[in-house]
Amino acid sequence: MTWAVVPAAGQGRRFGGETPKQYLTLAGRPLIEHSLLAVLSHDDVDGVMVAVAADDPWWPGWRELGGKPVLTCVGGGERADSVLAGLQALPASVSEDQWVLVHDAARPCLHADDLARLLAIGQAHPVGALLAAPVRDTLKRADATGHSQSTEPRDGLWRALTPQLFRRGGLTRALLAALHAGIKATDEAMALERLGLRPCLVEGREDNLKVTTPADLALAEFILSRAGK
Ligand code: C5P
Repeated sequence: MTWAVVPAAGQGRRFGGETPKQYLTLAGRPLIEHSLLAVLSHDDVDGVMVAVAADDPWWPGWRELGGKPVLTCVGGGERADSVLAGLQALPASVSEDQWVLVHDAARPCLHADDLARLLAIGQAHPVGALLAAPVRDTLKRADATGHSQSTEPRDGLWRALTPQLFRRGGLTRALLAALHAGIKATDEAMALERLGLRPCLVEGREDNLKVTTPADLALAEFILSRAGK
C-alpha cells in the first residue's frame, strides 16, 4: 500500500500569466490531471494527497480520479513546506513505515514504466529512491558578470526528477530537520542526504519534464500526444 503526495501550491511565477501552470490546459485536461492520473495508474498506489494553495480558486475539486481517492490539504510557502503539509495530512491508516511517492504537479508526462521501476527498486532499498536522469550538457560556472569562468566535470551528475519514494516517517523527520536548520530542500532526496542517507538513483526517461516555461507546455503536449494521450 502506497500513497502519493503531490505538491501543487506553487504560483508558477517563472511561467508568467494568471493561471498557475499546473492548471493550464494540456491535451484537453488541466495539466495537474495528467500528473495525478499518472501516479494513480499503478496498482500499488491507493490514493493521493494534493497540497494546494489556501483558497485556491483553480482547484477543480476532485474527490476521486481513476477510481482512487483524491484528498487535499493546504500547502506552504516553499515546495518542501507543501510536501511536509501533505505528509502530515495523510490518513492515519498510512503508517510511519509505509512508502510514500512524492510527485510534482508540474510533471504531467510521467511514464508508467518509470513509475513501476521506481516502486520495484525503491521498495527493495533500505532508504528509498528517486527517478533521475544523467546530465548530458557541458556545465559552466559563471562569474559575477555572467562570463564563463570554468567547466565543471559532469561525471556522476544527475538531474533529480519526480516521483521520489521514501517512508512516510523518515521523510517527514528529514524535511522537518532541514526546515529547522534553515535549509531549503528543493527535493526530498536532499533532505535525506544531509542526514547521511543515500537514496538510490533510478534512471528515468528524459521526457519526464517539469513544465516551467510556455515552451515546455508545447513540448509536453507533443510528448503526451506521442503516448496517445
Ligand atoms: O516551482 P517548481 O516548478 O519548482 O515547483 C515544483 C512543484 O512544487 C510544482 O508542482 C509546484 O506547484 C509545487 N510547489 C508547491 N508549493 C510551493 C512551491 C511549489 O506545492 N510553495
